[in-house]
Amino acid sequence: MPLLVPCVPAPHELLPWLERMHAARHYSNFGPLVCELEATFATQFQVAGAQVTTVANATLGLELVLQALDLPAGSRILLPSFTFVATATAVLRAGHVPVLADVDADSWMLTPDIASAAHASMPVAAVVPVATFGMPHDMQAWQQFEAQTGLPVVIDAAAAYGSQWLHNGEGTLVFSLHTTKSMPAIEGGLVVSSRPGLTTKVRQLSNFGINLEPTAGVPVGTLAGAGTNAKMSEYHAAVGLASLQQWERHAQDRKALQADLMQFLNQCSGHNLQWQGDGTGGPLKAPTLLCPRLPSAHIRSQLEQICAQEKITVRRWYQPLLEHMPALHSRCLALPTPVAHQLADTLLGLPFFLGMTAAQRERVGNAVARVQWSRPAGRLTACVAHPVPLAA
Ligand SMILES: Cc1ncc(COP(=O)(O)O)c(C=O)c1O
Repeated sequence: MPLLVPCVPAPHELLPWLERMHAARHYSNFGPLVCELEATFATQFQVAGAQVTTVANATLGLELVLQALDLPAGSRILLPSFTFVATATAVLRAGHVPVLADVDADSWMLTPDIASAAHASMPVAAVVPVATFGMPHDMQAWQQFEAQTGLPVVIDAAAAYGSQWLHNGEGTLVFSLHTTKSMPAIEGGLVVSSRPGLTTKVRQLSNFGINLEPTAGVPVGTLAGAGTNAKMSEYHAAVGLASLQQWERHAQDRKALQADLMQFLNQCSGHNLQWQGDGTGGPLKAPTLLCPRLPSAHIRSQLEQICAQEKITVRRWYQPLLEHMPALHSRCLALPTPVAHQLADTLLGLPFFLGMTAAQRERVGNAVARVQWSRPAGRLTACVAHPVPLAA
C-alpha cells in the first residue's frame, strides 16, 4: 500500500488550459496562465497583484526571498530543527547559516516565544518558521514579533496552501505547489508578501535578475541582480489552474478522511496515539499527511516491522532531524531541541491519500491493532537548557 497517491487533474481537465496555452504560443516567461493563476491568488490573499509571485518550487521561493532580504552574507537564520531539508538548504544556498531551534510540544512548530528565547541566546538576522505538516501560523503573533525584534520573518508554508493566510496582517509566506501538496501544479511555488517590494524583487531574481520594470532605476533588459531561472512554466500554471477548480472539494474530502482515520486508528490503538495539536493560526484545511506519535521509539519500531510485513508503506517524516543530516551537521548551529528529539524518536507517517479504499483503511487499522501497546504516548516536554552550538 502506498504512503501517498498524488491527486492531480486528469488529462481531459487540463485540456482547455493547454489549448489556451498553445493558442497563445506562450509557454513560459510570465505568460497568460501564470498571470491568471497569480491574479487568482492575489484575490484569495486579499493583496495587490504585485505582492504575489509564482516560482518554480518552494525551495527556490525560500532561497530567493532570503536573497531579496539583502541580509549580510553569512547571517544566522533561525529555523526549526524539525522540518524538511529544503528549509535549511534554501538558507545555505542563500549564503547564510541555519540556526536550529526547538518546536512547541503541542503544535510541533517554532513559535514566536521559542524564537524570542533563541534570539536572546544566539542573535539571528531572520526567522523561518515552518507550517509543520500544513498547520498554519498565527500571523498577528509573528507580526508582533517582527515589530518587537526588527527581524524579518518568512513562513515556510510549503504544505499549508488554503490554511495559511495573512489575516489582514503583515508577513511573507512561501507555499509549495508540488504534486504531493493539496494544490498541485506538479512543480511550483507561490510567494505572498506584504513587505514592500519583496515579491517584485523575487520575481526579478526568478527571471535571472533581469529588470523588466520600466520605472526601476536600471534600464529594462539589463541585469539588476544575480538571480537564477526559477520561473513557473505555462504547463505548470495550467495544472495549477485546473487544480484550483477542484481544491475546495478535495480539501473537504481530505479533512473528512483525516477525521475518520484518526478516530478509527485511535480505537485500533486503544487510544495510544498522539496527534499534532492545532496552533493559534486557525485550522488545517487540507491535510496531506497522517502522522501520529507513538508512545515510544520501541513501539514505533514494532509498528514499522508490522507494516513492512503487511507491505504497508510508512515514513519517518522530517527525520533524521536537520542536525543529524550528514551534509548539514557541520554547517548549522543547533540550540537544544529536546521536543524535536522526542518527536523524531516517536513520529511515524502512515498511508493517507484520497481514494483510500475501505479495505486499505482496514489493513492499516489491523496493523495498528497488532502492536503490543504498553502505555499511551507521554506528553512532549521542553527543557530549559543553554544553547550548545554544533559547529561554528
Ligand atoms: C517544509 C517544507 N519546505 C519546503 C519544501 C519544498 O517544497 P518544493 O518541493 O516545492 O520545493 C517542502 C516540501 O515538501 C516542505 O515540506
